[in-house]
Amino acid sequence: MSSYRGLFFEHLAQTSAFPLGLEVEKAEGVHLYTPGGSKVIDLISGISVSNLGHGHPEIINAVKEQAERNLHLMVYGEYINAPQVMLASRLSELLPGSLGSVFFVNSGSEAIEGAMKLAKRFTGRHEIVAFNNSYHGSTHGAMSVSGGHSYCSAFRPLLPGIRFLDFNDFDGIGHISENTACVFAEPVQGEAGVILPEQGFLQELRRRCYETGALLVFDEVQTGFGRTGSLFAMDKYGVEPDIAVFAKGMGGGMPLGAFISSRKIMSVLQKDPPLGHITTFGGHPVSCAAALASLEYLNKTLIFEKAVGKGSLFADLLRHKSVKEIRGEGLLLAMDLGDAGIVKDVLKIALEKGVVADWFLFNDESVRIAPPLTISEEEIEKSAGILLQSLDEVNN
Ligand SMILES: Cc1ncc(COP(=O)(O)O)c(C=O)c1O
Repeated sequence: MSSYRGLFFEHLAQTSAFPLGLEVEKAEGVHLYTPGGSKVIDLISGISVSNLGHGHPEIINAVKEQAERNLHLMVYGEYINAPQVMLASRLSELLPGSLGSVFFVNSGSEAIEGAMKLAKRFTGRHEIVAFNNSYHGSTHGAMSVSGGHSYCSAFRPLLPGIRFLDFNDFDGIGHISENTACVFAEPVQGEAGVILPEQGFLQELRRRCYETGALLVFDEVQTGFGRTGSLFAMDKYGVEPDIAVFAKGMGGGMPLGAFISSRKIMSVLQKDPPLGHITTFGGHPVSCAAALASLEYLNKTLIFEKAVGKGSLFADLLRHKSVKEIRGEGLLLAMDLGDAGIVKDVLKIALEKGVVADWFLFNDESVRIAPPLTISEEEIEKSAGILLQSLDEVNN
């Protein structure tokens, strides 16, 4: 039984003093296997990444085939690279309306940076509107539009000209004006602890953006690729943004992000200056091949449609006196316990019993439940049972 625990703490830069430190030797389906032989049900999916579970055979095959053909060839945008072209074409078919021009990058944060630059260039404006408690990433630009203010304040000064509004505050929408380049919104706020849009809120945002000429940017990094029960959350809410941002589940477990807009809007990145937005590894052929396999599987099986029923099953099973609320859409769920200490204790006990879950970046009073969409009813029953037992033990 080899353990890399000591070397992990010695040589990997740490992001907190309390990393989960779960050692994983192998992962398959919804399970993680430790070197000590434990089998753990994964209720996190690498934070909404492994939507088809770990080691999905169609994704693995696509990765192998592409790796044998070619790895990296050239910076994004110069060569005609079949996996990129096929993926971009398929995304354009599946996304609504004019979202038909895809700029591939490597991560969610990088896609947000690209969307921000695109909106500024297209509108010639520089004010940006974003929402309190939103999370858009950790690079300087993405952090500037993230609304977890105590989290971001250590890194000030951030970008100027960002106006924060409250999510679901209809009156606040009036602050979007003819000076606004774009509005960044997660259709469902993820790291805030799964906050759903109130009826009509996204539609009202859309209306105001049309009225003022501001571009509406949907950050679907966490909600995209089936997580909320439709392929994209924008389908569920019937609102088409001017720019859509994806990453996480898009790559089927490989690193990939994209910002997607119309050809008209995207065309401003070609000139004044040319090459004003470039990335070496964006749209890596192996990542695009994995993403295409994952997308085709989602599309042919419509497995994401079952996420709604699976999410409801979790919510029904997780009735307990300590649970204040279960919020969510599809398999993006928050079990609100109203107390950060209880959340930490529950997560620790659950892990000992064979379930890994998490809290949220901007909400440590709720437990994140976002398993692979492939989780079975039996696995939901088993993991909910473990969470309930853990809640009982914390209460005793
Ligand atoms: C909604 C949202 N946007 C952007 C990001 C940043 O993505 P990445 O970590 O790939 O940079 C995240 C990451 O959690 C996210 O949840």
